[in-house]
Amino acid sequence: MAISCIRMALFILLTPCAAALATPSNTTDLAALLAFKAQLKDPLGIVAGNWTATTSFCSWIGVSCSHGRQRVTGLQFNHVPLEGSIAPQLGNLSFLSNLVLRNTSLVGPLPTELGTLHRLRSLVLPNNSLSGTIPCTLANLTRLELLDLASNNFIGAIPYEFQNLHSLQMFQLVDNDLSGEIPQDMFNNTPSLSIIHLGSNRLTGRIPRSIITLSNLEKLVLQKNLLSGPMPPPIFNMSQLQALAVGRNNLSGPIPGNESFHLPMLQVLALPENQFNGPIPLGLSACQNLETLNLAVNNFTGTVPSLLATLPNLTAIYLSTNDLTGKIPTELSNQTTLLGLDVSENNLEGEIPPELGNLRNLGNMLNLSEIFINYNQLSGKLHFLAALSKCRRLNTIHISGNKFTGRLPPYMGNLSTMLEIFAAGNDMITGSIPSTVANLSNLLILSLRGNNLSGKIPTTIGAMDNLQGLYLSYNSLSGNIPEEISGLTKLVELYLGANKLTDPIPSSSGNLSQLQFMALSQNSLSSTIPTSLWHLQKLMVLDLSQNSLTGFLPADVTKLTAITAMDLSGNKLSGSIPDSLSKLLNIEKLDLSSNALSGVIPKALTNLTYLANLNLSFNRLYGQIPEGGIAPCQNKTNHSRSKQQLLKVTLAAVMAILISASCLCMLVIITTRRKGNIPLPLGTNLLSYQLISYHELVRATRNFSDDNLLGSGSFGKVFKGQLDDESFIAVKVLNMQDESASKSFDTECRALQMARHRNLVKIISTCSNLDFKALILEYMPNGSLNDWLYSNDGRQLSFVQRVGIMLDVAMAIEYLHHQNIEAVLHCDLKPRNILLDKDMIAHISDFGISKLLVGHDNSIMLTSTPGTVGYMAPEFGSTGKASRASDIYSYGIVLLEIFTRKRPTDPMFVGELSLRRWVSQAFPHELSNVVDSSILQDGIEDASRPPENFSILNINLISIIELALLCSIVVPEERMTMNDVVVKLNKI
Ligand SMILES: *[C@@H]1O[C@H](CO)[C@@H](O)[C@H](O)[C@H]1NC(C)=O
Ligand SMILES: *[C@@H]1O[C@H](CO)[C@@H](O)[C@H](O)[C@H]1NC(C)=O
Repeated sequence: MAISCIRMALFILLTPCAAALATPSNTTDLAALLAFKAQLKDPLGIVAGNWTATTSFCSWIGVSCSHGRQRVTGLQFNHVPLEGSIAPQLGNLSFLSNLVLRNTSLVGPLPTELGTLHRLRSLVLPNNSLSGTIPCTLANLTRLELLDLASNNFIGAIPYEFQNLHSLQMFQLVDNDLSGEIPQDMFNNTPSLSIIHLGSNRLTGRIPRSIITLSNLEKLVLQKNLLSGPMPPPIFNMSQLQALAVGRNNLSGPIPGNESFHLPMLQVLALPENQFNGPIPLGLSACQNLETLNLAVNNFTGTVPSLLATLPNLTAIYLSTNDLTGKIPTELSNQTTLLGLDVSENNLEGEIPPELGNLRNLGNMLNLSEIFINYNQLSGKLHFLAALSKCRRLNTIHISGNKFTGRLPPYMGNLSTMLEIFAAGNDMITGSIPSTVANLSNLLILSLRGNNLSGKIPTTIGAMDNLQGLYLSYNSLSGNIPEEISGLTKLVELYLGANKLTDPIPSSSGNLSQLQFMALSQNSLSSTIPTSLWHLQKLMVLDLSQNSLTGFLPADVTKLTAITAMDLSGNKLSGSIPDSLSKLLNIEKLDLSSNALSGVIPKALTNLTYLANLNLSFNRLYGQIPEGGIAPCQNKTNHSRSKQQLLKVTLAAVMAILISASCLCMLVIITTRRKGNIPLPLGTNLLSYQLISYHELVRATRNFSDDNLLGSGSFGKVFKGQLDDESFIAVKVLNMQDESASKSFDTECRALQMARHRNLVKIISTCSNLDFKALILEYMPNGSLNDWLYSNDGRQLSFVQRVGIMLDVAMAIEYLHHQNIEAVLHCDLKPRNILLDKDMIAHISDFGISKLLVGHDNSIMLTSTPGTVGYMAPEFGSTGKASRASDIYSYGIVLLEIFTRKRPTDPMFVGELSLRRWVSQAFPHELSNVVDSSILQDGIEDASRPPENFSILNINLISIIELALLCSIVVPEERMTMNDVVVKLNKI
């Protein structure tokens, strides 16, 4: 292998001389460019229409030349679909110094001939579908400064000859399929290297020691590989290092101690999901710029160092799932910049904070949004809740699985009204549930399961009308289930099992129309089951076992269309089994044992093809027990997959909830894996997470029939569907062949779960397993803004509707940018992604490439920039730098587009003329030449309006176009913020 490579290099070194002898002029360049053009499909005709024989190639789009000799020095296309492979003749462009083809849909191998371009400084080809191995001939490019092949499909090893690239400054091969070891000597002769990003590959072996020679190294990112062994200790002594991210590998060993740990510039230290051990390094005290510390899911021991309290910029501390002991340092309560603290799943002990005046301090963490101290050995009473009530931005308190004792204090009701999750399950809390809990009006999840709570369930609970999960099982609660529970109209999960509850189940519980899980087993509930319960259309699991319920089963249970498991065993139910049970097509488990049921077992139960677990024993039934499970012919029908498949899907859906739950907990670059024993799906908006089984999706979309197809793209297809409860949904089924589709699925899930706003498309559920992934979204009957602007079916938007739509969009972006702990960048705003509901309210969709901004960051560098040509801000397109400002730019372009009805990619915009320039040339006096003529008619033809309306319209139009031009200014720093846009638009 090595020998053949060297031979090839020799061969290639000889060829340019031969070429130079034959044609010592620029005709070689012309031939090379024409060969390049000939291999492209160029679907938009951008090259075909411009690279014509009538002009010198130096004026061709994408080509730059040297002044004197007119030789090609640069070839650059960004975000233009060129489609095709790279012609080997490019290797003849002997003066080429920049070859930049970013996001241009190129396929095929990287020609070895590029190794002859000895003047090349930038080889930047990210976000294509290039494949094959990386040619070792590139090692001849000794002047190469930027090598960026990120997000392609390259395989094989990194050529060890690359150690000759001694001018290299940036080395990015992230997100390919590279395997093998990183050559140990790789970095011995690359003294200028400042960025190494080799994450998301399958690289093995050790981290090369030669990295320590790189005195300019700023970013070392090797996350998500299969690297093993210890980190070379001197890495922790690199004075320029700003980001060290090696999470999700098999790295091990301790981190060096005080003297050998000196990283003064460090901002991000992310080592999660490895096997690092030993203490948390004290040297961190010198990292005064540190913002994120993520050491979660390792084997770190020792204590949580109090020095973390002295780092002035720290916003996130993630130490979850290690073997840390000792107390939570009280000094930490002085840490005012902290947004998230996660020390869960360790062996921490003691009280929080130990006695005395420290209570006051905990309230200094004014920005704190999430505190996870669950699954430790912490003890003492819950007084610290008083201090936490000063943290007015607190969203999550998770203190489950400790040894906390005492009562829930009544002042628990004074906690932040932003609180969404309060989890204190599996502790040793006594006393009753304070009625003040109902003050937490935004609470989504309340878990107090597995304590020693007694007394009644407070009736005030009915006021918590945002509550989605209520978990009070395994306590000693007594009295009745209060009638007021019907106020919890958004409740999805209700767990009250294993208590001492008595009396009938209130019939008002039939109002809980969103309920999916109801478990009231092991109580002393009596009387008949209220009829209203049999009308809960979304109920998937109903467990009323081990009570004293009496009466008959209702004749008609067919409204329970979603039910998959029903356990009514261990009661005193009588009468016969209703035939209608056989209509519950989704049911997998049915347990009616140990009752007083009588009569014949209905034969029709054999219709239940998914029924795997049927228990009718200890009754007075007779007749034949149906052979459970699937009849052999079932596999042939296109309606049903095998049961294993189904179980896999449902299970995967549950897993998806658990996984996405942990996403919410982790703010950082690398999410940490959490142990599987979390008792409740934390941090999820349960309501927006209705479980829908695969076979219901099949039914809803008529087996994904083409008649239901709403659209398709490289990501997959979107179908319209109608669920069993008759509501409409949109099902986005991802193309599993495309790996990036699967990534965008995760991104979209995460973004949509974080963000809830009336102008964002709501995610209803997901369905996911190894070979099927779908997002179930709110259905938008009025289609996309794109349809409204360009379909020639006569529909038109009025001026006011257009303003309304853009205000909706502005409010959604404002929310994404400014109202979450982490700002969400959409990165792909365009008319196709703006959907309209039945009332013409706009909803932003398609978060497949959205990004999160962490902490104080104002921008994020993407290794790939898959936005859309025309809408993408220039700086995002050329450098991959996404920021709030780049979303604003896209917004500005859409604002221009909606009032001009001209796409930024319209063929009329060639050369220097862009949509923005075209409009700005007409601004302000000739706007009527550029705006959509139907708006102007809008003002004139409406005879009912006074004549001055037209000029009012005109004035408003001027303000809007001005706003659009301000949003789409080329310099990102000069663009407006979305807050200001909303204010201005509202005035208009
Ligand atoms: C090639 O170079 C010659 C002079 O060396 C110049 O006259 C000619 O215009 C160049 N051709 C192109 C296509 O630039
Ligand atoms: C090709 O594009 C360049 C740059 O946009 C422009 O200057 C030139 O006039 C175009 N040439 C033709 C023939 O369209």
